[in-house]
Amino acid sequence: MPYDPLEDLAEVLIPADRILHRVIELGAEISRDYDGKDLVLAGVLRGASFFLTDLARAISLPIAVDFISISSYGPATKASGVVSIRKDLDESVGGRDLLLVEDIVDTGLTLSYLLQILRARQPASLQVCALLDRKVRRIIDLPIAYRGFEIPERFVVGYGLDYNQRYRNLPCIGVLKPELMIG
Ligand code: IMP
Ligand code: MG
Repeated sequence: MPYDPLEDLAEVLIPADRILHRVIELGAEISRDYDGKDLVLAGVLRGASFFLTDLARAISLPIAVDFISISSYGPATKASGVVSIRKDLDESVGGRDLLLVEDIVDTGLTLSYLLQILRARQPASLQVCALLDRKVRRIIDLPIAYRGFEIPERFVVGYGLDYNQRYRNLPCIGVLKPELMIG
């Protein structure tokens, strides 16, 4: 029998068809809002890459697609959300309409720091599109212009989200069996 990662889930929170349906809706909304603009979709690696590629296909506008990769400076500074850029955007975004695509916004610390860095490049506009919003954990309030789903206070995997780099390839979003999560 081949290994099926779906069997490691205790619960499916959002099935694949609901995700794809919502992504189509978000794409339509973004297509309306950015008509005539110079839209750059910027995904935060690695989690958002799965969401971004589906979202990009649901947008009926000429767009540029780019990625940024960040790393936290370590546990001591993690609480401040201070991050370093591991791989920067390739596009220059000055004067363009930048839409930052994230898999999940939790405390909001990482994203608020990233927004600060990107705002300094003076894009014409800067907004956030997040697939998941775990609002109950928010420390820094930040505007999420496009949100897929609000989720409860549980660690989730799938559709790009990982646990120790695994489960990103699940088509749905779910909660792992507790015995598979160490610590
Ligand atoms: P924040 O700075 O607390 O908002 O951190 C958000 C980042 O933490 C996301 O970009 C994810 O990479 C990661 N993260 C937060 N919650 C989860 C989860 O439930 N599963 C997988 N990754 C998560
Ligand atoms: Mg992330």
